[in-house]
Amino acid sequence: MTARSSLTVVLAAGEGTRMRSSLPKVLHPVAGQSLLAHVLDAAPHGEGASLAVVIGPDHKAVADEVRRVRPDAATFVQAERLGTAHAVLAGREAIARGADDLLVAFGDTPLISANTFARLRAPLEQGAALAVLGFRAADPTGYGRLLLEGDRLMAIREHADATPEERKVTLCNAGVMAFDGSRALEILDRIGNANSKAEYYLVDAVAIVREMGLEAVVIETSEDEVRGINNKAQLAEAEAVMQARLRKAALDAGVTLIAPETVYLAADTTFGSDVTIEPFVVIGPGVTIADGAVIHSFSHIVQASIGRHASVGPYARLRPGTSLGEGVRIGNFVETKAATIEAGAKVNHLSYVGDAHVGANANLGAGTITCNYDGFFKHKTTIGTGAFIGTNSSLVAPVKIGNGAYIGSGSVITKDVPDDAMAVERSPQSNREGGAAKYREMKMRAKAKKEG
Ligand code: UD1
Ligand code: MG
Repeated sequence: MTARSSLTVVLAAGEGTRMRSSLPKVLHPVAGQSLLAHVLDAAPHGEGASLAVVIGPDHKAVADEVRRVRPDAATFVQAERLGTAHAVLAGREAIARGADDLLVAFGDTPLISANTFARLRAPLEQGAALAVLGFRAADPTGYGRLLLEGDRLMAIREHADATPEERKVTLCNAGVMAFDGSRALEILDRIGNANSKAEYYLVDAVAIVREMGLEAVVIETSEDEVRGINNKAQLAEAEAVMQARLRKAALDAGVTLIAPETVYLAADTTFGSDVTIEPFVVIGPGVTIADGAVIHSFSHIVQASIGRHASVGPYARLRPGTSLGEGVRIGNFVETKAATIEAGAKVNHLSYVGDAHVGANANLGAGTITCNYDGFFKHKTTIGTGAFIGTNSSLVAPVKIGNGAYIGSGSVITKDVPDDAMAVERSPQSNREGGAAKYREMKMRAKAKKEG
C-alpha cells in the first residue's frame, strides 16, 4: 500500500447550467450513453475508492442511471441549486469520512479518461493541498479562467466575474480537482457566494488554499478530454469528438469502415474480426456484430446482435431485441424487432418481422409482414425451420408456421400451419378470354367520343 491509498470521489451531477430541455442535463446522450454514464465509467473504481454522486431533487431518473452504471455509488440530493461548491458539500457525509484524497468532478464532462483522474492525484503526494485540471480552450467563453503568477496557480475566475483582461486568458478550469483529504472540508466550508451569480463556486477553493498558505497546482490536459457541456452546441461537439475516438478504435481493432466519417457508433458497440461497415450506417446502444458480418449502407441498428457472416441492408432497420444467427441475410427495407432469426434464414426485401422466431434456413419472401399487434396486445409469430413464406403474405399473430411448411403468395394466415403443409389463402383466379381486348376497345371509343 502506498502512503495515500484511500479516495473519495464526489461527482456533481445536479441541475447545473440549463440545456433548455426537460431531460436532466447529465442524462443527455453522447454516443448512445448518458453524459453521466461516461463519467461514472471513467471515475476510479475498486479498492480504497468510494464514489458519491450528488443529484438534483426530483431526479429519480438520474439516481436510476447511477444505480445502473455504478451500483457501488452513494447518492446525495442537493435540494437547491446554489452552485458547484454547494453541490459538492451535499456529499459532506462522504467527504467527512476523511479519505487520503478527495477527487471532485462534474457530470457534464463525458470525454474524460480514467488515466487523467489518476494523473491529477500525483501532486498531492508532493504535498500540494489542491490540484486543478486545466486545458487551453479554443474558445474559453463560459469557462473559469486559471489565473497564474509565474507558474503558480493563484485563483480561478468565472467567466461572468472576469475582467476583460482576465477573459483573454485561455487556460481554463476543466472542473476536475483533487484535494488533500485531510484539509478538504475546511477548504470547502470557507467558500462563500459573493459573486455575480450569488453561487457557491467550487473554483474559489484555489484562492482559499493560497490564503491558507498552502499549495495549489495545475495539471494540463487536452480540450478534447474535458469539454464541458452546457448547451446543445457543446453536446454536438462532444459527440463529434467521441465518434472520432470510436471510429479510430474500431479501425484499430480491424473493422473495415469504408467512409468512417459517415458511420455512427455507440460507446458499447462490439465487433468481431473482419467486420465491414459500408458508408452511412447508424449504430445505437447495445449492438454486437460478430466475425465477418457486413452492414450495408443506410442501415440503422439498435440493441441487436448480428451473427457471424450475416449480411444486413442496405436500408435495413434492426430494432431492440433482434438476434441474427450465422449467415442470416436481411435485405433492403426490412424492419425487425424482438425477433430471433436463426442461422441461414433470409428476409431479403420489404418485410416486417416483429415479436417473432424464425427457424434456420427459412425464407421470407418480399413483403412478408408479421401482424403482431391487434391494437391492444402484441402476439408472437413462430416460423419453423426451412419454412417458405410466399411473397406478400400477412402472418396474423399469434400464429405458428410449421417446419418445412409452404405459404402461397398473397396469403393472410390466421391459423397455425402444420409441418410440411402447404397453406394458400386467396380467392380463386378467373381468366376471361379476350376480356382485356374488349375492355381496351370500349375505353378507346369512349375517349374518342369525349375528345370529339
Ligand atoms: C463549471 C466551473 C468552471 C469550469 C466548467 C468546466 C464552477 C463555479 N465553474 O462551470 O470554472 O470551467 O465547469 O466545465 O465550478 N451542479 C450541481 N449543482 C449546482 C451547480 C452545478 O450539481 O448547484 C453540477 C452540474 O450538474 C454540472 C456541474 O455541476 O455537471 C457543473 O455545473 P455547470 O453549471 O455546468 O458549471 P459551468 O458553468 O459549466
Ligand atoms: Mg458545465
